[in-house]
Amino acid sequence: MSEARGRDRLLTTGAALDAGPLLVIDRARGAFVWDEAGRRYIDALSGCWCVPVGYGRPEVVGRLAAQLRRVSYTPLDWRSHRPALELADALVEKAPKGLERVFFCSGGSEGVATALKLARLSGRSRTGDSRTVFMYRRGSYHGATLGATSVTGFEELRRGLGPLLPDTLEVEPPDCASCPFGASPERCGLQCAGAVEEAIKRLGPGRLAAMVAEPVAAAGRVQVPPAGYWPRVAAALRGAGALLILDEVLTGLGRTGRWFAAEHWGIQPDILVVGKGLAGGVAPLGAVLMTRQVSELFRSEPFAHGFTFGGHPASCAAALATLQLLGGLIGSVEARGSACVSCSSGVRELTARWPASAFWPAFRCGCPLSGAGSCASSRCKRGCCAASRRMPCNSPRR
Ligand SMILES: Cc1ncc(COP(=O)(O)O)c(C=O)c1O
Repeated sequence: MSEARGRDRLLTTGAALDAGPLLVIDRARGAFVWDEAGRRYIDALSGCWCVPVGYGRPEVVGRLAAQLRRVSYTPLDWRSHRPALELADALVEKAPKGLERVFFCSGGSEGVATALKLARLSGRSRTGDSRTVFMYRRGSYHGATLGATSVTGFEELRRGLGPLLPDTLEVEPPDCASCPFGASPERCGLQCAGAVEEAIKRLGPGRLAAMVAEPVAAAGRVQVPPAGYWPRVAAALRGAGALLILDEVLTGLGRTGRWFAAEHWGIQPDILVVGKGLAGGVAPLGAVLMTRQVSELFRSEPFAHGFTFGGHPASCAAALATLQLLGGLIGSVEARGSACVSCSSGVRELTARWPASAFWPAFRCGCPLSGAGSCASSRCKRGCCAASRRMPCNSPRR
Protein backbone atom coordinates (compact mmCIF):
# COMPACT_ATOMS: atom_id res chain seq x y z
CA MET A 1 0.00 0.00 0.00
CA SER A 2 1.42 3.39 -0.91
CA GLU A 3 2.10 5.87 1.89
CA ALA A 4 -0.52 8.26 0.45
CA ARG A 5 -3.19 5.57 0.49
CA GLY A 6 -2.41 4.46 4.04
CA ARG A 7 -2.45 8.09 5.14
CA ASP A 8 -5.92 8.44 3.75
CA ARG A 9 -7.25 5.61 5.89
CA LEU A 10 -5.75 6.58 9.19
CA LEU A 11 -7.18 9.16 11.56
CA THR A 12 -4.73 10.10 14.29
CA THR A 13 -4.56 12.42 17.27
CA GLY A 14 -3.50 15.97 16.63
CA ALA A 15 -2.75 15.68 12.90
CA ALA A 16 -5.44 16.81 10.50
CA LEU A 17 -6.06 14.65 7.45
CA ASP A 18 -4.66 17.31 5.15
CA ALA A 19 -1.66 18.03 7.36
CA GLY A 20 0.68 16.05 5.13
CA PRO A 21 2.37 12.72 5.55
CA LEU A 22 2.82 11.19 8.97
CA LEU A 23 6.20 10.26 10.30
CA VAL A 24 6.28 6.46 10.00
CA ILE A 25 8.37 4.92 12.76
CA ASP A 26 9.87 1.63 11.76
CA ARG A 27 11.97 0.53 14.70
CA ALA A 28 13.14 1.66 18.09
CA ARG A 29 15.88 0.86 20.57
CA GLY A 30 16.87 2.60 23.80
CA ALA A 31 16.17 6.33 23.43
CA PHE A 32 16.11 6.25 19.61
CA VAL A 33 13.53 5.62 16.92
CA TRP A 34 14.12 5.20 13.19
CA ASP A 35 11.75 6.10 10.38
CA GLU A 36 11.20 3.98 7.28
CA ALA A 37 13.88 5.89 5.41
CA GLY A 38 16.39 4.87 8.07
CA ARG A 39 16.67 8.32 9.72
CA ARG A 40 17.37 8.15 13.42
CA TYR A 41 15.68 10.43 15.98
CA ILE A 42 16.19 10.89 19.69
CA ASP A 43 12.77 10.31 21.23
CA ALA A 44 12.79 13.00 23.87
CA LEU A 45 9.03 12.55 24.30
CA SER A 46 9.52 8.97 25.43
CA GLY A 47 6.81 7.87 22.97
CA CYS A 48 3.92 9.61 24.66
CA TRP A 49 5.63 9.89 28.07
CA CYS A 50 5.26 6.15 28.32
CA VAL A 51 8.58 4.44 27.61
CA PRO A 52 10.33 5.13 30.90
CA VAL A 53 13.05 2.49 30.64
CA GLY A 54 13.67 2.80 26.90
CA TYR A 55 12.61 0.80 23.88
CA GLY A 56 13.23 -2.91 23.49
CA ARG A 57 14.31 -3.76 27.03
CA PRO A 58 14.67 -7.54 27.04
CA GLU A 59 13.69 -7.74 30.73
CA VAL A 60 10.29 -6.19 29.94
CA VAL A 61 9.64 -7.73 26.54
CA GLY A 62 10.80 -11.15 27.77
CA ARG A 63 8.52 -11.11 30.79
CA LEU A 64 5.56 -10.03 28.67
CA ALA A 65 6.23 -12.80 26.12
CA ALA A 66 6.62 -15.45 28.83
CA GLN A 67 3.29 -14.41 30.34
CA LEU A 68 1.55 -14.56 26.96
CA ARG A 69 2.85 -18.09 26.48
CA ARG A 70 1.64 -19.10 29.93
CA VAL A 71 -1.85 -17.55 29.90
CA SER A 72 -2.69 -14.94 27.30
CA TYR A 73 -5.87 -13.59 28.91
CA THR A 74 -7.73 -13.68 32.19
CA PRO A 75 -10.21 -11.01 33.24
CA LEU A 76 -10.17 -9.45 36.66
CA ASP A 77 -13.66 -10.18 37.96
CA TRP A 78 -14.24 -13.25 40.07
CA ARG A 79 -11.09 -14.51 38.36
CA SER A 80 -7.60 -13.08 38.67
CA HIS A 81 -4.02 -13.88 37.80
CA ARG A 82 -0.68 -13.90 39.60
CA PRO A 83 0.86 -10.84 37.85
CA ALA A 84 -2.12 -8.65 38.89
CA LEU A 85 -1.90 -9.83 42.49
CA GLU A 86 1.85 -9.19 42.61
CA LEU A 87 1.56 -5.84 40.87
CA ALA A 88 -1.15 -4.64 43.27
CA ASP A 89 1.22 -5.47 46.12
CA ALA A 90 4.15 -3.72 44.45
CA LEU A 91 2.17 -0.55 43.78
CA VAL A 92 0.73 -0.32 47.28
CA GLU A 93 4.21 -0.79 48.72
CA LYS A 94 5.45 2.27 46.80
CA ALA A 95 2.32 4.42 47.07
CA PRO A 96 1.69 7.37 49.41
CA LYS A 97 0.48 6.34 52.86
CA GLY A 98 -3.12 5.23 53.09
CA LEU A 99 -3.56 3.91 49.55
CA GLU A 100 -4.22 0.24 50.09
CA ARG A 101 -6.17 -1.18 47.17
CA VAL A 102 -5.74 -1.20 43.41
CA PHE A 103 -8.17 -1.38 40.50
CA PHE A 104 -6.64 -2.06 37.09
CA CYS A 105 -7.78 -0.56 33.79
CA SER A 106 -6.16 -0.02 30.39
CA GLY A 107 -4.84 3.52 30.67
CA GLY A 108 -5.06 6.99 32.16
CA SER A 109 -8.44 8.07 30.80
CA GLU A 110 -10.11 4.92 32.05
CA GLY A 111 -8.34 5.44 35.36
CA VAL A 112 -9.67 8.98 35.74
CA ALA A 113 -13.19 7.93 34.69
CA THR A 114 -13.00 5.16 37.30
CA ALA A 115 -11.83 7.61 39.96
CA LEU A 116 -14.75 9.95 39.24
CA LYS A 117 -17.24 7.12 39.71
CA LEU A 118 -15.51 6.03 42.92
CA ALA A 119 -15.66 9.58 44.28
CA ARG A 120 -19.39 9.92 43.70
CA LEU A 121 -20.14 6.49 45.16
CA SER A 122 -17.91 7.20 48.13
CA GLY A 123 -19.46 10.62 48.74
CA ARG A 124 -22.93 9.18 48.86
CA SER A 125 -21.98 6.35 51.14
CA ARG A 126 -19.79 8.38 53.55
CA THR A 127 -21.89 11.45 54.06
CA GLY A 128 -25.31 10.57 52.73
CA ASP A 129 -25.12 13.77 50.70
CA SER A 130 -25.59 13.72 46.99
CA ARG A 131 -22.04 14.84 46.31
CA THR A 132 -21.82 15.18 42.58
CA VAL A 133 -19.49 18.11 41.88
CA PHE A 134 -15.95 17.67 40.55
CA MET A 135 -13.41 20.46 40.78
CA TYR A 136 -10.60 20.66 38.23
CA ARG A 137 -8.07 23.27 37.16
CA ARG A 138 -7.91 25.42 34.07
CA GLY A 139 -5.23 24.16 31.71
CA SER A 140 -5.36 20.60 33.05
CA TYR A 141 -5.65 17.42 30.99
CA HIS A 142 -7.08 14.24 32.43
CA GLY A 143 -7.97 12.09 29.46
CA ALA A 144 -10.18 11.57 26.46
CA THR A 145 -13.31 9.80 27.69
CA LEU A 146 -16.37 12.00 28.07
CA GLY A 147 -16.00 11.84 31.86
CA ALA A 148 -12.30 12.72 31.78
CA THR A 149 -12.93 15.47 29.22
CA SER A 150 -15.51 16.96 31.60
CA VAL A 151 -12.72 17.61 34.12
CA THR A 152 -10.18 18.71 31.54
CA GLY A 153 -9.47 22.41 31.55
CA PHE A 154 -8.60 23.05 27.91
CA GLU A 155 -11.41 24.85 26.11
CA GLU A 156 -10.21 23.55 22.75
CA LEU A 157 -10.59 19.94 23.95
CA ARG A 158 -14.13 20.53 25.24
CA ARG A 159 -15.41 22.58 22.31
CA GLY A 160 -18.27 21.04 20.35
CA LEU A 161 -18.70 18.08 22.71
CA GLY A 162 -21.27 19.41 25.12
CA PRO A 163 -23.18 18.84 27.18
CA LEU A 164 -20.35 17.31 29.18
CA LEU A 165 -20.86 16.13 32.75
CA PRO A 166 -22.84 18.73 34.66
CA ASP A 167 -21.64 19.67 38.13
CA THR A 168 -18.05 20.50 37.37
CA LEU A 169 -16.20 23.51 38.68
CA GLU A 170 -13.08 25.05 37.16
CA VAL A 171 -10.50 26.81 39.32
CA GLU A 172 -7.29 28.62 38.42
CA PRO A 173 -4.05 26.62 38.55
CA PRO A 174 -0.94 27.38 40.61
CA ASP A 175 1.01 28.81 37.70
CA CYS A 176 3.88 30.89 38.98
CA ALA A 177 5.38 31.41 35.52
CA SER A 178 2.20 33.12 34.34
CA CYS A 179 0.18 33.80 37.49
CA PRO A 180 -3.56 34.02 36.70
CA PHE A 181 -3.88 36.52 39.57
CA GLY A 182 -1.06 38.70 38.28
CA ALA A 183 0.86 38.12 41.50
CA SER A 184 4.52 37.38 42.07
CA PRO A 185 5.51 34.16 43.88
CA GLU A 186 7.29 36.03 46.69
CA ARG A 187 4.23 38.01 47.77
CA CYS A 188 1.17 36.25 46.37
CA GLY A 189 -0.35 34.90 49.59
CA LEU A 190 -1.04 31.71 47.65
CA GLN A 191 -4.08 33.12 45.89
CA CYS A 192 -4.24 29.90 43.85
CA ALA A 193 -4.89 27.89 47.03
CA GLY A 194 -7.24 30.61 48.22
CA ALA A 195 -9.24 30.23 44.99
CA VAL A 196 -9.85 26.57 45.83
CA GLU A 197 -10.97 27.49 49.36
CA GLU A 198 -13.26 30.21 47.99
CA ALA A 199 -14.80 27.88 45.40
CA ILE A 200 -15.54 25.30 48.08
CA LYS A 201 -17.15 27.95 50.26
CA ARG A 202 -19.28 29.28 47.40
CA LEU A 203 -20.44 25.79 46.49
CA GLY A 204 -21.76 25.19 49.97
CA PRO A 205 -21.63 22.07 52.14
CA GLY A 206 -22.23 18.52 50.96
CA ARG A 207 -21.86 19.11 47.24
CA LEU A 208 -18.22 18.60 46.30
CA ALA A 209 -17.36 14.97 45.52
CA ALA A 210 -13.68 15.50 44.68
CA MET A 211 -10.99 17.65 43.21
CA VAL A 212 -8.99 16.04 40.43
CA ALA A 213 -5.52 17.39 39.75
CA GLU A 214 -1.97 16.51 38.87
CA PRO A 215 0.40 17.12 41.80
CA VAL A 216 2.65 18.90 39.30
CA ALA A 217 0.71 20.00 36.25
CA ALA A 218 2.55 18.42 33.36
CA ALA A 219 0.02 17.44 30.72
CA GLY A 220 -0.30 21.02 29.48
CA ARG A 221 2.92 22.69 30.41
CA VAL A 222 4.92 21.96 33.50
CA GLN A 223 3.80 23.99 36.52
CA VAL A 224 5.49 23.16 39.81
CA PRO A 225 3.17 24.50 42.54
CA PRO A 226 4.55 26.79 45.24
CA ALA A 227 5.50 25.13 48.53
CA GLY A 228 2.36 25.89 50.51
CA TYR A 229 -0.17 25.10 47.80
CA TRP A 230 -0.81 21.43 48.39
CA PRO A 231 -1.02 21.47 52.20
CA ARG A 232 -3.66 24.24 52.01
CA VAL A 233 -5.66 22.64 49.21
CA ALA A 234 -5.57 19.19 50.83
CA ALA A 235 -6.75 20.68 54.13
CA ALA A 236 -9.58 22.57 52.42
CA LEU A 237 -10.80 19.41 50.70
CA ARG A 238 -10.58 17.40 53.89
CA GLY A 239 -12.48 20.10 55.74
CA ALA A 240 -15.22 19.96 53.12
CA GLY A 241 -15.45 16.16 53.26
CA ALA A 242 -14.40 15.94 49.60
CA LEU A 243 -11.87 13.54 48.11
CA LEU A 244 -8.57 14.35 46.50
CA ILE A 245 -7.97 12.47 43.25
CA LEU A 246 -4.35 12.80 42.20
CA ASP A 247 -3.72 12.17 38.54
CA GLU A 248 -0.17 10.81 38.45
CA VAL A 249 -0.49 9.41 34.94
CA LEU A 250 2.43 11.60 33.88
CA THR A 251 4.20 12.37 37.13
CA GLY A 252 4.07 8.93 38.73
CA LEU A 253 6.49 6.05 38.77
CA GLY A 254 9.76 7.87 39.23
CA ARG A 255 9.49 10.75 36.81
CA THR A 256 10.14 13.35 39.52
CA GLY A 257 12.72 11.34 41.39
CA ARG A 258 10.20 9.76 43.77
CA TRP A 259 7.83 6.94 43.04
CA PHE A 260 4.99 9.47 43.15
CA ALA A 261 5.16 13.27 42.88
CA ALA A 262 2.75 13.44 45.85
CA GLU A 263 5.71 12.53 48.06
CA HIS A 264 7.37 15.90 47.49
CA TRP A 265 4.65 17.54 49.61
CA GLY A 266 3.60 14.56 51.71
CA ILE A 267 0.15 14.65 50.12
CA GLN A 268 -2.16 11.79 51.04
CA PRO A 269 -4.70 11.46 48.24
CA ASP A 270 -7.85 9.37 48.57
CA ILE A 271 -7.48 8.10 45.01
CA LEU A 272 -4.42 8.10 42.77
CA VAL A 273 -4.33 7.26 39.07
CA VAL A 274 -1.30 5.93 37.18
CA GLY A 275 -0.91 4.82 33.58
CA LYS A 276 1.37 5.73 30.68
CA GLY A 277 4.68 3.95 31.35
CA LEU A 278 3.40 1.57 34.01
CA ALA A 279 3.92 -1.38 31.68
CA GLY A 280 7.07 0.10 30.16
CA GLY A 281 5.24 1.23 27.03
CA VAL A 282 4.99 -2.32 25.69
CA ALA A 283 1.32 -2.83 26.59
CA PRO A 284 -1.64 -0.72 27.76
CA LEU A 285 -2.20 -0.53 31.50
CA GLY A 286 -3.61 1.87 34.07
CA ALA A 287 -4.17 1.56 37.80
CA VAL A 288 -6.39 3.33 40.31
CA LEU A 289 -5.07 3.21 43.85
CA MET A 290 -7.48 4.02 46.66
CA THR A 291 -7.77 4.17 50.40
CA ARG A 292 -9.32 1.42 52.46
CA GLN A 293 -12.25 3.76 53.18
CA VAL A 294 -13.05 4.12 49.48
CA SER A 295 -12.58 0.45 48.66
CA GLU A 296 -14.62 -0.76 51.63
CA LEU A 297 -17.68 0.36 49.66
CA PHE A 298 -17.32 -2.92 47.84
CA ARG A 299 -17.03 -5.26 50.82
CA SER A 300 -20.42 -6.85 50.30
CA GLU A 301 -21.38 -5.48 46.88
CA PRO A 302 -18.97 -5.61 43.93
CA PHE A 303 -17.84 -2.51 42.03
CA ALA A 304 -20.20 -2.62 39.04
CA HIS A 305 -17.59 -1.24 36.69
CA GLY A 306 -14.70 -2.67 34.69
CA PHE A 307 -12.87 -2.93 31.38
CA THR A 308 -12.43 -6.13 29.39
CA PHE A 309 -8.70 -5.64 28.99
CA GLY A 310 -8.04 -3.82 32.26
CA GLY A 311 -5.11 -5.45 34.06
CA HIS A 312 -4.28 -7.78 31.19
CA PRO A 313 -1.86 -10.45 32.46
CA ALA A 314 0.82 -9.58 29.90
CA SER A 315 0.58 -5.86 30.81
CA CYS A 316 0.86 -6.65 34.52
CA ALA A 317 3.86 -8.92 33.90
CA ALA A 318 5.56 -6.18 31.87
CA ALA A 319 4.77 -3.70 34.66
CA LEU A 320 6.47 -5.88 37.26
CA ALA A 321 9.63 -5.92 35.15
CA THR A 322 9.35 -2.17 34.51
CA LEU A 323 9.01 -1.34 38.21
CA GLN A 324 12.09 -3.40 38.92
CA LEU A 325 14.10 -1.47 36.34
CA LEU A 326 12.71 1.88 37.52
CA GLY A 327 13.75 1.03 41.07
CA GLY A 328 17.34 1.13 39.86
CA LEU A 329 16.88 4.45 38.04
CA ILE A 330 14.93 6.56 40.52
CA GLY A 331 17.96 7.46 42.61
CA SER A 332 19.60 9.29 39.72
CA VAL A 333 16.55 11.27 38.52
CA GLU A 334 17.16 14.27 40.82
CA ALA A 335 20.77 14.59 39.71
CA ARG A 336 19.95 14.25 36.03
CA GLY A 337 17.03 16.66 36.39
CA SER A 338 19.24 19.24 38.02
CA ALA A 339 21.66 18.93 35.14
CA CYS A 340 18.77 19.65 32.80
CA VAL A 341 17.95 22.89 34.62
CA SER A 342 20.77 24.34 32.60
CA CYS A 343 18.48 23.68 29.68
CA SER A 344 18.77 27.12 28.15
CA SER A 345 22.06 26.07 26.66
CA GLY A 346 21.54 22.31 26.73
CA VAL A 347 18.21 22.27 24.92
CA ARG A 348 19.49 24.68 22.32
CA GLU A 349 22.45 22.45 21.73
CA LEU A 350 20.25 19.38 21.43
CA THR A 351 17.81 21.05 19.05
CA ALA A 352 20.72 22.06 16.88
CA ARG A 353 22.04 18.53 16.75
CA TRP A 354 18.96 16.35 16.55
CA PRO A 355 15.80 16.18 14.47
CA ALA A 356 13.04 17.82 16.46
CA SER A 357 9.77 16.23 15.49
CA ALA A 358 8.95 15.42 19.07
CA PHE A 359 11.02 17.51 21.36
CA TRP A 360 10.32 17.97 25.01
CA PRO A 361 12.75 19.16 27.64
CA ALA A 362 13.49 17.13 30.72
CA PHE A 363 10.65 17.28 33.18
CA ARG A 364 12.53 18.89 35.99
CA CYS A 365 13.55 22.00 34.15
CA GLY A 366 9.93 23.19 34.19
CA CYS A 367 10.27 25.16 30.99
CA PRO A 368 6.87 25.93 29.52
CA LEU A 369 7.29 24.27 26.17
CA SER A 370 4.05 22.91 24.77
CA GLY A 371 3.73 19.52 23.12
CA ALA A 372 3.27 21.19 19.78
CA GLY A 373 6.86 22.34 19.91
CA SER A 374 6.02 25.97 20.48
CA CYS A 375 6.37 27.86 23.71
CA ALA A 376 3.12 28.00 25.65
CA SER A 377 4.10 31.23 27.33
CA SER A 378 4.90 34.14 25.10
CA ARG A 379 6.38 35.83 28.15
CA CYS A 380 9.04 33.17 28.70
CA LYS A 381 12.46 34.51 27.94
CA ARG A 382 14.35 31.25 28.31
CA GLY A 383 16.58 30.31 25.46
CA CYS A 384 15.10 26.87 25.02
CA CYS A 385 11.62 28.34 24.54
CA ALA A 386 12.87 30.84 22.03
CA ALA A 387 14.56 27.98 20.19
CA SER A 388 11.37 25.94 20.15
CA ARG A 389 9.29 28.86 18.88
CA ARG A 390 11.49 28.97 15.84
CA MET A 391 11.19 25.28 15.25
CA PRO A 392 8.25 23.91 13.28
CA CYS A 393 6.77 20.81 14.86
CA ASN A 394 6.82 17.53 12.96
CA SER A 395 9.34 18.78 10.47
CA PRO A 396 12.53 16.95 11.26
CA ARG A 397 15.63 18.49 9.79
CA ARG A 398 17.10 16.45 7.05
C1 LIG B 1 -2.25 13.79 33.23
C2 LIG B 1 -2.92 12.83 32.32
N1 LIG B 1 -4.01 12.16 32.75
C3 LIG B 1 -4.65 11.29 31.97
C4 LIG B 1 -4.23 11.03 30.69
C5 LIG B 1 -4.96 10.06 29.83
O1 LIG B 1 -4.20 8.91 29.63
P1 LIG B 1 -4.46 7.96 28.38
O2 LIG B 1 -4.17 8.75 27.17
O3 LIG B 1 -3.49 6.83 28.59
O4 LIG B 1 -5.86 7.50 28.46
C6 LIG B 1 -3.11 11.70 30.19
C7 LIG B 1 -2.64 11.47 28.82
O5 LIG B 1 -1.83 12.17 28.28
C8 LIG B 1 -2.43 12.62 31.02
O6 LIG B 1 -1.38 13.31 30.59
